[in-house]
Amino acid sequence: MPSNTVHPDAASLLAWYDRHRRALPWRARPGEPADPYAVWLSEVMLQQTTVAAVGPRFGAFLARFPTVEALAAAPWEQVAQEWAGLGYYARARNLHAAAKVVAERGGFPCDEAGLATLPGVGAYTAAAVAAIAFGRPAVPVDGNVERVMARVFAVEAPLPGAKGRLAALAREVGAQAPASARPGDFAQALFDLGATVCTPRRPACALCPWRRACAGLASGLAESLPRKVPKPERPQRFGVAFWLEDEGGRVLLRRRPARGLLGGMLELPGTPWRGEVWGEAEAQRHAPARAEWVSAGEVRHVFTHFALALRVVAGRVSALPAGGEVVGRGEVLSAGLPGVMAKAARVGLSVLAA
Ligand code: ADE
Repeated sequence: MPSNTVHPDAASLLAWYDRHRRALPWRARPGEPADPYAVWLSEVMLQQTTVAAVGPRFGAFLARFPTVEALAAAPWEQVAQEWAGLGYYARARNLHAAAKVVAERGGFPCDEAGLATLPGVGAYTAAAVAAIAFGRPAVPVDGNVERVMARVFAVEAPLPGAKGRLAALAREVGAQAPASARPGDFAQALFDLGATVCTPRRPACALCPWRRACAGLASGLAESLPRKVPKPERPQRFGVAFWLEDEGGRVLLRRRPARGLLGGMLELPGTPWRGEVWGEAEAQRHAPARAEWVSAGEVRHVFTHFALALRVVAGRVSALPAGGEVVGRGEVLSAGLPGVMAKAARVGLSVLAA
């Protein structure tokens, strides 16, 4: 870096954070000790979910399972119900498994290496919890932090290849005083800067504590960084879901296998999901009962690796077949269906009037 350039410095960032930090439900107030359980829970929830979506769900989860011991002791069905709609359900399964490990060993490991042994805790989450809950010198690098680093250092190499370089730059800034003494605040300052100032589009550079140090701003590149290698398009899959009700308004659901996509979550019975549209007759071979099936509609949902078009058909029988989970139609939407199945259930509910 040329010697006349101002380096992005930890002191300016922390001074900015002390004035502008967001009040977030999982954040300890200045001077208060952090609760490792709340920090860990929030970081797992925030892994693939926005701050806005996590806000209310974090409080509800904590109210239902106030301690890691309470979470460890809860049956899976309750954890699944409380997580329903947040997506990426492997997170909930790992959260539950990790809670049992932590309760058993009598507390959280307090450094990055120990935290990374817990189910569902990867390098990012281990660093975030180590820094925020335990004040360890770790720098968690998420998409916000990568964007800030790519801009302030004008890194033009594209993601994902540039990840290692951007993480090394973040660690370099984080090793400076006073960040080295306040690693949790440094991490959260980077999150907040990325979320509120150094935003993906139209960054508010005039408000940035690093505006004089930002190589991206100086070269007019800031908004175009970080560059990204384009992702391949998502394949399209198709499925049929069966909304089956009996005359008493009871609906047939089933629980998915513990492993895999939506593992351990409730769903409407249905066909497998595949690359071709299902014909009427072949779909009916997967129906949970013989019934007069009527077409109810179609819902669409985007998963990480594919897009799903799920046709919903509805039928009524005098008695539901054995082997599933039976829920009254008034309780279906609070039973803990994942997002795609809640959409399908709304279609079923609207077609077969009570
Ligand atoms: N994104 C991930 N972790 C976060 C945190 N602790 N605060 C704000 N945004 C975050």
